[in-house]
Amino acid sequence: MYVIAHLSDPHLDGSEEARSRLRRITAYLRSFRRPADVVVVTGDLADHGLDAEYAEVAAELALDVPVLMLPGNHDVSAPLRAGLAAYVDAAGEGHPVHQVREVGDARFVLVDSTVPGEDHGLLSKDSLTWLDDVLREPFDGPVFVAFHHPPIALHHPVMDQWMLQELDAFEAVLTGKPITALLTGHVHNAVVTTFAGHPVLGAPGIRSTVPLPFEPASPGGGLVDTTAYPGFALHVHFPGEPLQTFYRFPV
Ligand SMILES: [Fe+2]
Ligand SMILES: [Fe+2]
Repeated sequence: MYVIAHLSDPHLDGSEEARSRLRRITAYLRSFRRPADVVVVTGDLADHGLDAEYAEVAAELALDVPVLMLPGNHDVSAPLRAGLAAYVDAAGEGHPVHQVREVGDARFVLVDSTVPGEDHGLLSKDSLTWLDDVLREPFDGPVFVAFHHPPIALHHPVMDQWMLQELDAFEAVLTGKPITALLTGHVHNAVVTTFAGHPVLGAPGIRSTVPLPFEPASPGGGLVDTTAYPGFALHVHFPGEPLQTFYRFPV
């Protein structure tokens, strides 16, 4: 058995509200009778990309298991690399922050889908070439490709401006590759769909939830509902069996 705890969008900003929502998740993880094999956090770690926020991220996610992190549109490459050096192992400097990490029997290809200074996502030609090369490397075990912006149209008038763009080239790279699942965040929703023939598994937003247009409006009428329970995904893999995903919203 291999257990991935998939967290996303804590948006730490120094506030007690953001910190306490993340702590509901980390306290639950720390209480596991059998620890998760790895924790993967799919972006928007800090709310403004500040050094102090990354110091908080580093402290709050200091768990007794390996923790992998990748950037979202609220993150900033240089302070993220500097402040999260214990968590992020990426070649080069600045943007993009791509990583290939192996933890136990699994491989994680952590792709930086961000565009500096923008909220939408986009993978450059160089990034797609890098990803294609990595996915062609033989690996005997489950392979997870993780990134912040999901390759879906949410059909949400605000969120759709900020989604991953130019999906055709991304789809071509992923199609037919040995991938167990694509792990994403950004939309602050537990969302499950498919892309390029692979499962897309989105983690809930820890900081908030984005109601869909046909759901009740969030309290206050804004884009996000900060009263919804923070949650995370558990992806459980048994060799030779389909991946199982569970969602948890600890009280
Ligand atoms: Fe976010
Ligand atoms: Fe985001």
